[in-house]
Amino acid sequence: MDLRHNTILITGGTSGLGYEFAARLLELGNTVLITGRNQAKLDDTKRRLPGVHTFQSDVSDLTAIRQLYQQVVAQFPALNIVINNAGEMRKLDLQDPTLDLLDLTREVEINLSGPIRMVQQFLPHLKTQPTAAILNVTSGLALTPFPLAPIYGGTKAGLRAYTKALRVQLQHTPVKVFELVAPAAKTSLADPFTNVLEESMLMDPSKLIAQAINGLQHDRLEIYPGLSKILHYMSRLAPGVLLKQMSKGVTEAFGQPQGKASAR
Ligand SMILES: NC(=O)c1ccc[n+]([C@@H]2O[C@H](COP(=O)([O-])OP(=O)(O)OC[C@H]3O[C@@H](n4cnc5c(N)ncnc54)[C@H](OP(=O)(O)O)[C@@H]3O)[C@@H](O)[C@H]2O)c1
Repeated sequence: MDLRHNTILITGGTSGLGYEFAARLLELGNTVLITGRNQAKLDDTKRRLPGVHTFQSDVSDLTAIRQLYQQVVAQFPALNIVINNAGEMRKLDLQDPTLDLLDLTREVEINLSGPIRMVQQFLPHLKTQPTAAILNVTSGLALTPFPLAPIYGGTKAGLRAYTKALRVQLQHTPVKVFELVAPAAKTSLADPFTNVLEESMLMDPSKLIAQAINGLQHDRLEIYPGLSKILHYMSRLAPGVLLKQMSKGVTEAFGQPQGKASAR
């Protein structure tokens, strides 16, 4: 698709991949709107990227999504692309007895329910545009479980399945549905995992987003930058080997699993 002269809403545009998307899409001549929860980070992004339009909005909050829709469509009726990028990834020990049942599924609200609700809210508007697109940012961890972040992988696998289904349902509309299967990248989201992710495995966000934009321009509906390509092949050819690889660091992080065979 032509990535010039669009009006693009990016959730979570104040850092990492979302910021990089905003910067590159502005350079290409698009009108770019970003969201985030933290107003200071939005103000800072506005200082660094004066062309960007900012909206404080939490993608896990239903009311905030409705308000965002009202504000955006009133101010930017030409909105034709939504990038569901906001996300969170937490290291969680599922045997920790102090885990709170409500907080446990926070990533589900942000990474999975958030994009699903954003699509539902904005879809009728997108369908009125001559060309339109939705890009959901999933992860290489949609292709294999990552036991250090067990809920995160579940949300991204869910978002991937939902995105494929959405693409089929929208096949006769002007709305193209893309998935960016992002590999591990040098952003604050990956910081808590640098003891298990080697520096060389972390992709530079600017290179990742350059590949993502190239994929969008060439209508590649599933975009696999960097190591995501290898994960994609491995997940189909040798999923057990891949899971073993991705399970490294669990014992070190959470201690010996309770009820292990050796304890009996
Ligand atoms: N970095 C990686 O290794 C990697 C790999 C694969 C996929 N991804 C995916 O890429 C996307 C971007 O991640 P990143 O690495 O760029 O992370 P990041 O640097 O931590 O940025 C996350 C962005 O999302 C915003 N955000 C978080 N929760 C939000 C919420 N509830 N509502 C609205 N905005 C929210 C943050 O701003 P506020 O905190 O101010 O809200 C920030 O702007 C995520 O979907 C992530 O799962 C990342």
